[in-house]
Amino acid sequence: RREKGWVASHLHQYQGFWHTTRQLQGVLACQKHFQSQDTDVLLVTNPKSGTTWLKSILFSLINRSVFTDPKKHPLLTTNPHVLVPFLELDLYVENRRPNISYSSSPRLFSTHLPYVSLPESVKSSACKLVYLCRSPKDAFVSHWHFANRLRPESLGENSMEEIFEKFCKGVSLCGPFWDHSLGYWNESFKRPEKVLFLSFEEMKREPVFHVRRLAEFIGCPFSEEEEAKSEVEDVLEMCSFDSLSNLEVNKIGKLPSGEDHKAFFRRGEVGDWVNYLTPQMAEKLDSIVEQNLHGSGLKF
Ligand code: A3P
Repeated sequence: RREKGWVASHLHQYQGFWHTTRQLQGVLACQKHFQSQDTDVLLVTNPKSGTTWLKSILFSLINRSVFTDPKKHPLLTTNPHVLVPFLELDLYVENRRPNISYSSSPRLFSTHLPYVSLPESVKSSACKLVYLCRSPKDAFVSHWHFANRLRPESLGENSMEEIFEKFCKGVSLCGPFWDHSLGYWNESFKRPEKVLFLSFEEMKREPVFHVRRLAEFIGCPFSEEEEAKSEVEDVLEMCSFDSLSNLEVNKIGKLPSGEDHKAFFRRGEVGDWVNYLTPQMAEKLDSIVEQNLHGSGLKF
């Protein structure tokens, strides 16, 4: 099925989820060519759920024995999306077959792929999946802002009402939003050693607890010595919204895919939807989400 998208392009439905043309080509290429290794770590998110934040945290955790001088940390000079590429949006695009076999171990990638569309080798190998979910209301508002920034100024803003109606029908990038999270939520119970399910809101509330959990899950727990030096807090400080968004590298420049580095940093808070959605819109979305999650135990 093809549906007029909410950015400038069209969305296509594949395996129950909606993708742009470019993204869908990447999804198909990943499914065909990506060979997962047991040591790989994959960050999975719905768009605008805090991917940039978790990319920075995971990169810092995995490489903390390599980059010991905080003044020379790669995050100070390189955008997180360059350090941790998306499989289907950066690596397997435009018929490229990236040579990623040389990457240091563990290899760290990111994806928006729904669980059902993951390459077979990802599902069957022992690689780890870290899923970060976010409140659909906040992710929707965040995406609306992001899409406006990408839109030519002459066209004006996207109509919030129009794209909200589509979002509620499940037609959004990688949507239905709730089905995307549900796929990984269910899998995190079946295979807790493979899928760690986190939420943006819980990460905000108890960051130290969740970063420790994350480090343990990916096999690099903090040692007593590191704990004594407050290294969990150091990682969080380096990856905080204020630190990252104030770096020169994230204020200027664009990704190879065209997005401004700056577009990935807006407010970074919980509950900003109240400033954009009417109570009726919020009620409508809450009730759709509730119906779709009914019986699963997942709550945003
Ligand atoms: P808002 O638009 O609500 O501010 P993604 O990285 O998945 O594209 O998501 C972008 C959202 O994460 C934006 O949300 C952005 O501001 C927020 N974000 C980016 N970096 C962050 C950080 N270090 N800490 C918390 N939120 C962050």
